[in-house]
Order: sequence, then C-alpha cells, then structure tokens
Amino acid sequence: MEAIPLNTRAVSCLDDLERLAREALPREAYDYIAGGAGDEWTLRENQAAFKRLQLLPRVLRDVTQPKLEVTLLGRPLSMPVLIAPTAFHGLVNDNAELATMKAAVDAGVIMCASTASNCTLESIASAGGTPPHWFQLYIYRDRELTRSLVERAEAAGYGALCVTVDVPRLGRRRRDVLNSFCLPGHLKLGNFVNREASDVTKIEGKSGLESYVSSQMDAAVTWKDIDWLRSICSLPVVLKGIMTPEDARLAVQHEARGVVVSNHGGRQLDGVPATIEVLARVVDAVRGECEVLLDGGIRRGTDVLKALALGARAILVGRPILWGLAVDGAAGARFALEVLREELAAAMALVGCDAVDGLSRSLIWDSRRKETLE
Ligand code: FNR
Repeated sequence: MEAIPLNTRAVSCLDDLERLAREALPREAYDYIAGGAGDEWTLRENQAAFKRLQLLPRVLRDVTQPKLEVTLLGRPLSMPVLIAPTAFHGLVNDNAELATMKAAVDAGVIMCASTASNCTLESIASAGGTPPHWFQLYIYRDRELTRSLVERAEAAGYGALCVTVDVPRLGRRRRDVLNSFCLPGHLKLGNFVNREASDVTKIEGKSGLESYVSSQMDAAVTWKDIDWLRSICSLPVVLKGIMTPEDARLAVQHEARGVVVSNHGGRQLDGVPATIEVLARVVDAVRGECEVLLDGGIRRGTDVLKALALGARAILVGRPILWGLAVDGAAGARFALEVLREELAAAMALVGCDAVDGLSRSLIWDSRRKETLE
C-alpha cells in the first residue's frame, strides 16, 4: 500500500481537511454535511465526550509494530475503521460514491454505501473488491421497493445489510431549513427510477430532504420488519442507530449480527448522549452475542482507540470522508483514512499495546469520575 504523506497541502489532521472543504464547498452543501439537529448539542457532544476520556499509558512493552487488523463478521479488515453510510456524495465530488469506493479499496476498508447514494448501488459495488462492502438500507413505505433494494444489494455482492433504525422521521436540521436544502437538478438518488423516490426538490423555507423522508420512508417500522428483512435475504443484518442496552438486547433476540451505536452524527434527536458515553452499556448488554460498532465524532486515532478499548469491534467515520472527497476526490478520502490509521498506530504504541485485542477499559481514565472505566 503506497503511503500518502501526512503533510500534503499542510493538512495534518482531519480538522484541517474540514477547514479546506469548508472553503471549497457551496454553503448549502457544507451546512448539510456539517450540521446537526436542533441546537446541535449532540453533534458537539459526540466530539466533546471523547475529550473527557483520557488515556493511561502502560510502558516498557514491545510496541515495535502495533497490529491494527481485526475481524468483523468473520472477515479480516486491515484496520477497525469503516466508511459510514452518508448520502449524496455528488454534492462534493463529480465521481460521487465511485470516488469514495476507490478510497475504500485503496485503503483496504469497508465502505457502507447509503440507500441515498447518487450512483446506483450496483455501480458502487462493481467499483469495490474484497472484503465485500456493506449496503445501508432505509425502509421505504413501499415495501416492494424496499424488497427490491435488498434483493439488488444481495445480487450485487454486498456483504451485509446495515439497516438504519433511527430515522422514523428526519431530525429537525435548522441549517437545512434556512437554506431550503434540496438536491441540485443534476443530482438524483441513483437507486430509484420513479421521480418521487429519486428527487429531493426545493421547497422555499423548508428542508426538501425532510419532506422527502416524510413522504417516502416509513415511521411505522417495528422489530417485525427486521424479521421480515432477515426472511427475504441471507445477508447478515446490522442495526445502525442503537443507543440503549434494551434495544441492543432486542437486536440480539431478532438475530442481528451487529449493532452500530450511533446517534446519526447528531442529526436526528438533539439531546441524546454522545455515542461513546453509552457504548460500554451496550457492549455489556449484548454479552458478545453480536458485534458492536460505534460512530459519531471520531476525528482522531485516539478516539478510535478509546472506542475499541471500551469494547467496540470497529468504528465508522462519516463527515471526514466527505471533507476528504471535497478537497481531493478519492485521494482526499483515502487521506482521511490514512490519517486515522497512522494516528491509531501511534496511539497504540504510546499506550503500550501491540494489538487491537489487547486494548481494555483499564486504559481509559474518566476525567469527571476520576477513575478508570474498568
Ligand atoms: C449521514 N448519516 C447517514 N446514515 C445513514 O444510515 N444513511 C445515510 O444516508 C446517512 N447520510 C448522512 C449524510 C451526511 C452528510 C452525514 C454527515 C451523515 C449518518 C452517518 O452514517 C454517521 O452515523 C455519522 O456521520 C457519524 O458521525 P460523524 O463521523 O460524521 O461524526
């Protein structure tokens, strides 16, 4: 794998990428990506909570070459980082999700392709390789449409169905309301042919996306629909948007193979805790009966390390990939991934750990409680 110098264009961390992307993007696109719901408290809290957790390094251990490899759903990954499903990559790059997939393939990580991609799920899959990538599913009111998405994802060779369960309706994203956010005329939701499902049109003084979601997606979804999805496909099902031990147990009972502890990057219900705050409770609740992943606010290798030490098998990263895409297409998204890889390897060595499965809660110091999280 060819190394990308971390000092390219004076970018040394993911925040630098965001700064450049902000300069490059139209206001509505930047706001759509950067923003969150309500007062954006949860959005800020996702990152702030990582900073409240500190690290207690162990010393005098051979950490010449920390190993970042893990297995996820039985498959090996080069590092415990996945690309989170995010909509509309065409807003930031002309090659849209195909550029993102190139970055995933080059970095050897899994991309989770969103239902709301601008490219078709088939074209994204054919730009991918092994390991098989994931398809993120939104459940549409039209169950035949939903069924066809699932069947197409399986036929296209995706390795898991990541069902997003925290969008019975769209969170109130005030920036998008103020910008009357919509998709520019040349961009469609690539997975659909009928206009109602493929267009996010402009409605003055409203978020076009909020209207799209309330007309197309189903607020009546329940655990029975998860059973239905399992009955119509053989892909492992991962539920994204789990925040409580109770729902994590239900996920296990409904035979989910994984849960993603996620608050949708602070874009749904403002006022829910940071994901890293609730992770350990979810990990304890599932008792190893399914994989636990986390997303939300990961911006540093040390954030990845903290999530793994608290029991996540892997993490997903959302916005920084889009900042990378906006700045330099596939190379920029790859750069974001390589920064995380490099920072994680450095952090592992500095806490005295030579493999991911050696990370444990004893490394984490909770600055509020003044105790480790063991
Ligand atoms: C998202 N997210 C998201 N999730 C999902 O399941 N399907 C989707 O289509 C989208 N779309 C989307 C668009 C944009 C612009 C963002 C920023 C996020 C949520 C995403 O998968 C993930 O949960 C968060 O992005 C994680 O937080 P960070 O890494 O962005 O802080």
